[in-house]
Amino acid sequence: MRLLAVVLALIVITVTPAHAEPRVVGGVVVDNPAEVPWMVALTTSSGYQFCGGALVGPDLVATAAHCVYGRAPSSITVVGGKLDLRTDGGSTSVVKQHQVAEGYSTPSRGNDIALLTLVEGMPYETLPIAETTAVYAAGNVGVVYGWGRLSEHDTTKSPLLHKASIPVMADEQCAAAYARYDAKSMFCAGYPEGGIDACIDDSGGPYVVGGRLAGIVSWGIGCARPNAPGVYTRVKTFLT
Ligand code: ARG
Repeated sequence: MRLLAVVLALIVITVTPAHAEPRVVGGVVVDNPAEVPWMVALTTSSGYQFCGGALVGPDLVATAAHCVYGRAPSSITVVGGKLDLRTDGGSTSVVKQHQVAEGYSTPSRGNDIALLTLVEGMPYETLPIAETTAVYAAGNVGVVYGWGRLSEHDTTKSPLLHKASIPVMADEQCAAAYARYDAKSMFCAGYPEGGIDACIDDSGGPYVVGGRLAGIVSWGIGCARPNAPGVYTRVKTFLT
């Protein structure tokens, strides 16, 4: 356990740059619950939020494979129906089972998607899945939602849901930024100059284009750095 903590600390130190982009990074607080009825948080049994997700069925949550891989389903609590995680209300359910995409190993190798079946369904509107690959056209603007860090170095967590609008990047641009980019199972969203991005603990959260689930927060180098866009799971490849 100690060793693991040290190894993790080293990883964090080596991927952390000298400067953080100020302030999901560069976003705003979501204040209208009706905008995101399907948004859920994944938490530990003690309530620590570590990933996001979206209800795609009354008892079905789409999230990133890396959020759940290796965790016992019963140790994951899904929280829905609230924007401020400090408040009471909303719904919670533990996970009955999770199905990780075939071929998943680590986020940068792709296939970073999982479906969670809840023990108890939630009474909220679900998020429809992108119907066509047209949502991935470069320049389309999607909205990413999460309770993750407000900047790369900010280790204090915001209990308030944030969102940011970020354009889809062209495949060539993404491939130029990341040698491991796989256009079949990923896409990038970001600005060449950085500044606006998902960040740590936003993983698993939805990237929504035209009211549909198009992407899932997967990985990136740091957060909001120039020429290092956010990488998302290309949902359409995996879900009908
Ligand atoms: N892997 C991170 C997590 O577990 C999210 C990474 C997203 N990074 C980014 N720069 N878009 O929460």
